[in-house]
Amino acid sequence: MVLTTTTAASDEHLHCTFASRYARTSLPRFKIPDGSMPKEAAYQIVNDELMLDGNPRLNLASFVTTWMEPECDKLIMESINKNYVDMDEYPVTTELQNRCVNMIAHLFHAPVGDEETAIGVGTVGSSEAIMLAGLAFKRKWQATRKAEGKPYVKPNIVTGANVQLEQNAFLYSRQFQLYLQEHCHLVGLLGKIRKYFEVELKEVKLREGYYVMDPAQAVEMVDENTICVAAILGSTLTGEFEDVKLLNELLTKKNKETGWDTPIHVDAASGGFIAPFLYPELEWDFRLPLVKSINVSGHKFGLVYAGVGWVVWRSKDDLPDELVFHINYLGSDQPTFTLNFSKGSCQIIAQYYQFIRLGFEG
Ligand SMILES: Cc1ncc(COP(=O)(O)O)c(C=O)c1O
Repeated sequence: MVLTTTTAASDEHLHCTFASRYARTSLPRFKIPDGSMPKEAAYQIVNDELMLDGNPRLNLASFVTTWMEPECDKLIMESINKNYVDMDEYPVTTELQNRCVNMIAHLFHAPVGDEETAIGVGTVGSSEAIMLAGLAFKRKWQATRKAEGKPYVKPNIVTGANVQLEQNAFLYSRQFQLYLQEHCHLVGLLGKIRKYFEVELKEVKLREGYYVMDPAQAVEMVDENTICVAAILGSTLTGEFEDVKLLNELLTKKNKETGWDTPIHVDAASGGFIAPFLYPELEWDFRLPLVKSINVSGHKFGLVYAGVGWVVWRSKDDLPDELVFHINYLGSDQPTFTLNFSKGSCQIIAQYYQFIRLGFEG
């Protein structure tokens, strides 16, 4: 959400040419109008102004889905008024989100037993998912440090500098730099963790010809305050997959030598719904023991409209219980772990539609 900085005192007005039959006076731009107006007029005014937006079907910039089948659009419209957080009121929606979490966890080879349910949650996108995963690592690390009687105030995350696009754009042509600045400044998500959750970011610098995190350098930068190494499966810059398998090997060795237990998070925002289908033999997920959590964007290659992401944890032990919020909205206890409370349900429903509609084959 863009923070609005316009002054409330502005007396700018909108002129509604095609709604003038209904609205005879112009509308104040930044104040709620004094009177109401017919619904046809309100529609005409908003619709006409939105014509100046771009056409979503031509927008490929953020890899976010802009078309779904009419049957799914219908399901979305039928569920647009359901609040995701009213789990007792909408138990089937909750069940569909749980099915999605389990499907994704199995897709990523989480060691979930036949009688167990996977640990994960639907989010607004990968950004929220990454922040939740970061919080879980921070809490786990702090708990261990406290138990050992060691300081626990300077946590850090080691990651490739490709999460911070602006700083690396020098590596590219001027034209590509401009493209990146215009279209990709949304990344730097781990930067949000730094700002909001006070976790230092230790960046492995990119170099000419190598535009993802070098696992050897990353492991070298790990210290006793490192809460996790964050690898990216599908770099926003180039789409390239980082070598999570090598990272797992090198980090296992370092953990053995130092006695630390530094884990890995995989930001599979883009690659999470590509690698399992195109490169099933590639080991980047929970097949690697140090990978404790993975996020993926449902609204990118999960093929759902903007507003859905997922984070799954390897096991219950990887999500500290104190972070789980127990809501008791209409009766029974429902554990949740999200940054927000109320939100729409339709993207979750749409994600489930895509899973059963396309299947693994699709
Ligand atoms: C690697 C990576 N992580 C996270 C994100 C943020 O994803 P979302 O838009 O789902 O919040 C992006 C977005 O492009 C990305 O490329």
